[in-house]
Amino acid sequence: NVLYIKNSKPRPVSETVEGQFSIIGELKNIFKKSLIKSYPKSNDFNIKMVISSPSKSGDYQCDSAMGLSKILKESGTKVSPAEVAKTLIKNIPANRIIEALSIGDPGFINITLSQKFVVRQIASMFLEGVRPPKVDKKRVVIDFSSPNIAKEMHVGHLRSTIIGDSLARLLEYLGHDVVRLNHVGDWGTPFGMLLAHLNDKYPDYLNNPLPIGDLQAFYKKSKKRFDEDAEFKKRAYAVVVELQAHNPDQTKRWQLIWYTPRKEFQKIYDRLDIKLTERGESFYQDSMKKIIEDLKQKNLLVYEEGRYVMVPQKENLNPLTVVKSDGGYTYDTSDNAALCHRLEVEKADWIIYVTDRGQSSHFESLFDCVERAGYIDKNRVRIDNVSFGVVLGENKKRLKIRSGDTIRLVDILDEGIKKSMDKPIKKNRERILSPEELEQARTSVAYGCIKYADLSNNRKGDYVFSFDKMLEDEGNTAVYMLYQYTRTQSIARLANVEPNQLLNYAKNEDIKIEHPNEIKLAKEILKFYDVIQKITEDLVLHPLCEYLYKIATAFSEFYDSCYCVEKDRKTGEVIKVYMHRLLLCEVTANILAKCFDILGIKPVNRM
Ligand code: ARG
Repeated sequence: NVLYIKNSKPRPVSETVEGQFSIIGELKNIFKKSLIKSYPKSNDFNIKMVISSPSKSGDYQCDSAMGLSKILKESGTKVSPAEVAKTLIKNIPANRIIEALSIGDPGFINITLSQKFVVRQIASMFLEGVRPPKVDKKRVVIDFSSPNIAKEMHVGHLRSTIIGDSLARLLEYLGHDVVRLNHVGDWGTPFGMLLAHLNDKYPDYLNNPLPIGDLQAFYKKSKKRFDEDAEFKKRAYAVVVELQAHNPDQTKRWQLIWYTPRKEFQKIYDRLDIKLTERGESFYQDSMKKIIEDLKQKNLLVYEEGRYVMVPQKENLNPLTVVKSDGGYTYDTSDNAALCHRLEVEKADWIIYVTDRGQSSHFESLFDCVERAGYIDKNRVRIDNVSFGVVLGENKKRLKIRSGDTIRLVDILDEGIKKSMDKPIKKNRERILSPEELEQARTSVAYGCIKYADLSNNRKGDYVFSFDKMLEDEGNTAVYMLYQYTRTQSIARLANVEPNQLLNYAKNEDIKIEHPNEIKLAKEILKFYDVIQKITEDLVLHPLCEYLYKIATAFSEFYDSCYCVEKDRKTGEVIKVYMHRLLLCEVTANILAKCFDILGIKPVNRM
């Protein structure tokens, strides 16, 4: 029961090289037009369109006939889903995307893409590169990484750093104006403890600063005193209040404490190639006062057991503590001030916080309270807390080192670098690659695999950290993807075709993509914009990794069954280059590179 749709006349080449877009989005538009014509009264019905599962016929599937039939029935018109599907098909406007439509039980519409369209899109991805789809440009503030100074960066911050950077890369690719902020914990009670302890033990600290290792041990000792010694606790709080009042001596010590960890954090960002603007809690100290005044004036603060709290509108949300009984400010206060700064000064129309799941309730309360105070108009500004689960060790328990402390980030990176060379050395790659190539492959694999393992898991769940798993060269791992990329590069080196020759070929009217594995690869590539749309809506990255894996697999199948270059068996000389396949290889390389770019992974040409 295939119902063919006549395609409109083919256009001249210059016009058929068209923009790149989400096919699901475009198919929805086409079906919407048919809906308006078929059932004008139900014109606000939401068209449902999905990518077909591999077992089904067709490339995409429209699931709307069933829902429509139900709605029509409710309004007194009895039509079966199959009839609705038929009517929808009849009224599909002429277009260049659809080749064929068929109906499956009870009323699914299977859509097959036009071959010509597929070829033109592939050619366009070669001629114009993987261009970003059209979106409304926004000013986005993304708050991620954000470690605390007194403690070393740990694996929870690794997730925030990796996920945040990748989301920022995605939004930058889409053309948004992105501000990447590192909201470091450089303020508040931990600093009070640290400084109070420092004042006691190292009165000479201004002339003789400590390295960070000591600082951490130091923090632990000060925390112990804080928990056990009421008098010390009082003094620690007093130091915070002094700091907030710009006491010059405390400020100087504070700056000195800051100096070493800041350098250490930077080393990690440099290794992972992550750009961030530091704007910690302390940055907002003066605006905190103003906010409190404003909230007081608006009568939004409640005095409760010596503290000032702000109560959210929604029930069951925790109140925010804005001023403590000793007059000190809190994490809640600085977040209030930071949000206002991002709205007023940064003029953000989208704000994203990347934090562990444990902070979700804090952000729910915060988002509610700033709305209550009239600081944010949620119809105009989008605001998200992108939260993630914890990192587990191979024993499925929270990842820790023996002493019971959370694992240090530098140790993980060093171990990655060490382990990433085990396999290449086993395969004697050092005999083939130059030392520079080997070194590039090593960092690419080490950092790539750590990032990919994190991003390929749904961020909302916990994930098991295992170097052995992430360094496997098969399956959904960075190593496998990077390896497939090097294959595209080696084909290009072998074919040795002049860039101009391939350019002219891509402008050609009748490029033939016919082998099932060529078609499968091409159609897989075209799903890119559907995936981009989904991950931008949901702010998750694992669908992009799944897409990448499908491309790598489809490419591998294509590579095994379709010669791109034919060589003389005896002389090894190239005797034939299949241009359309070379074109597919190039576009595969482009799309892989674009995905790597969004994921923050650096591919290499050889490994
Ligand atoms: N410093 C916090 C932590 O380590 C994360 C800060 C997240 N950003 C924010 N604006 N609260 O848990």
